[in-house]
Amino acid sequence: MIKVINVVGARPNFMKVAPIVAAMKKRPRSFQPLVVHTGQHYDASMSDAFFTDLELPTPDTHLGVGSGSHAAQTAAVMERFEPVVLAEKPDWVLVVGDVNSTLACALVCVKLGIKVAHVEAGLRSRDRTMPEEINRLLTDQIADLLFTTSEDADQNLLAEGIPSERIRFVGNVMIDSLIKNLERAKQSTIKTKLGLAERTYAVLTLHRPSNVDNRETFGRILDALETISHSLPIIFPVHPRTRKTIADLGLSDRVQSMTNLRLIDPLGYIDFLELYSTARLVLTDSGGIQEETTSLGIPCLTLRHNTERPVTVELGTNVIVGTDTEKIVTAATAALNGSSSHRVNQLPLWDGHAAERILDALEEVTAHS
Ligand code: UD1
Repeated sequence: MIKVINVVGARPNFMKVAPIVAAMKKRPRSFQPLVVHTGQHYDASMSDAFFTDLELPTPDTHLGVGSGSHAAQTAAVMERFEPVVLAEKPDWVLVVGDVNSTLACALVCVKLGIKVAHVEAGLRSRDRTMPEEINRLLTDQIADLLFTTSEDADQNLLAEGIPSERIRFVGNVMIDSLIKNLERAKQSTIKTKLGLAERTYAVLTLHRPSNVDNRETFGRILDALETISHSLPIIFPVHPRTRKTIADLGLSDRVQSMTNLRLIDPLGYIDFLELYSTARLVLTDSGGIQEETTSLGIPCLTLRHNTERPVTVELGTNVIVGTDTEKIVTAATAALNGSSSHRVNQLPLWDGHAAERILDALEEVTAHS
């Protein structure tokens, strides 16, 4: 029996861990899964809604760390996670993605000699001003087993000196969740509630500190959104960080004056999936949404200067547009004038079975250690 602590902390973790825990429950003779929630995200709309939508079991342990500076948050996760690991003595701790909780839990385990598996390893933006890039680099250096979503990630890890026997290209667990829930999402009434018809609107998400904590950058993005919103409504589920900075930077009046930019509360997994899956265009600074839109063939403009997910540009529908007003508008116009086939793209191993491959590898590596 392989006892695994599966760590979740922030919103983008839930849809990655859900298929892994579900797959473990289907192999009860091999796996004993536990779920630990660090509490990095705690608002109902940022956390609870995802447990319900994704049928994630209630966490066995909730560390309740909440918000704080990077140092305070990372340290709080470490202090509270260590006694859980000591008490549970798992065979593996599985961490996903690149949030502060990912690195904090990996660091606790490596010091205790507990094996760590990192899901979504090897992604690199090469931008060390991004907190997530530091979390990725450090987690990958200390993890025992590295599960990758694309072959470029394997190359990144090898170039950093990580032995090939630690790396497994398994595909994308986030796409496991997408494929599983796409039909169910059609039951969502979100479009009716918002009075929207298919492919007549854009969806926007924005939460990176580099975009929303800086008045000048945020202002340039708003200028672009203003122009784009003359062509179609832009639906903007607002992340709590962004809601706070709109007020703090004195941008509330500006945002409210843009009638076709429609601010709404953050959505749960199913409602958001239904919303973006029939959008004409998505504008985002998220990592995961670049992959989800690629998988569904939806035009995506990434409001960043780089991406850690280059396959979404090479094989998918993603365009990196940065934060220059004119560049964003030009790219949006091109996307809106182009044919939007909404063809489902299947990238190698983004097939709905990544979680099973992860379990196979965990079984195999555990048997040989
Ligand atoms: C975190 C991740 C980021 C991920 C994002 C997804 C890190 C370094 N960053 O960024 O990689 O893309 O989650 O959302 O781990 N807040 C609330 N309620 C919540 C959570 C946050 O109000 O439930 C507010 C607080 O003011 C908090 C701020 O949002 O200080 C930022 O939260 P934090 O978890 O530090 O970072 P995110 O910007 O959410």
